Amino acid sequence: MPSPDHLTQSNERALKALIAWWADAGIELDAPIVRPRAERAAAAPAKTQASHSREPVYDSPAPRAATAAAAKAAGFGDSAGSGPSAREAAAKADDIEALRKIIEDFEGCTLKRTARNTVFSRGNPAAKIMIVGEAPGRDEDERGIPFVGRSGQLLDKMFASIGLGEDDLYISNIVNWRPPGNRNPTQEEVAVCLPLIERHIALAKPDVLILTGGVAAQSLLRAEAGITKLRGKWTEYAVKDAGGEASDNNISCLPIFHPSYLLRQPAHKRLAWADLLALKAHMSEIAAE
Ligand code: URA
Repeated sequence: MPSPDHLTQSNERALKALIAWWADAGIELDAPIVRPRAERAAAAPAKTQASHSREPVYDSPAPRAATAAAAKAAGFGDSAGSGPSAREAAAKADDIEALRKIIEDFEGCTLKRTARNTVFSRGNPAAKIMIVGEAPGRDEDERGIPFVGRSGQLLDKMFASIGLGEDDLYISNIVNWRPPGNRNPTQEEVAVCLPLIERHIALAKPDVLILTGGVAAQSLLRAEAGITKLRGKWTEYAVKDAGGEASDNNISCLPIFHPSYLLRQPAHKRLAWADLLALKAHMSEIAAE
């Protein structure tokens, strides 16, 4: 087999399709394999999570990707570190559509090389509630829309159960490209993409931010605790300015279990229901103000 450096455009395309097919079949790749030599030399080695299946770790105490220590080490939350090019690109967006275009053109995340589509958002950008998940899965990758697979259907049912539909919600993810084989995004991938979702939140300006699962909650809140501890507790998310600094503007934020986790652990739907009722009460309070 020729080395990736000798790939022509057409066999690169074929290889990419093959990788996508493997990924769909559940064959997991630790890192994209089609990378120019210069980029391979420049890139730090991709670190993978202990588990390659995203679902079981959604409620684990502290996935390595997003512990506070890992967040610092990876440069989360400041304009130095591994995220500045995403930060600089995202800073140029003055509205959500401009950010969509910037993310579609962004080449700084290696996940894009194996993904079929960039998965940006769905729902109403002017909604009061913004939901942030972890990363697209196979269905989302195929359609270029977040939360359209089984977990998305559950997410929709959960919010419908408190009277909230597509027009009341705006939905995105920490990472805009599917990790091959549905593995967890690595620490490096989360670090690269974090400035993009932080800008997305700043531009959407929701009244309430719902973070589904450990990776979303820990990375955006710079939290060390796992989702089991974080869920159901209201906190404040400090909106980041274009340079990545925390502004004085805070958004009420509620971490909840990820719907994928609830599909595997239906007994925990009881806790998720309590969180949804807390959200409903909070929205009524906002409406009464
Ligand atoms: N899981 C996520 O976190 N996001 C999606 O878009 C789909 C599944």
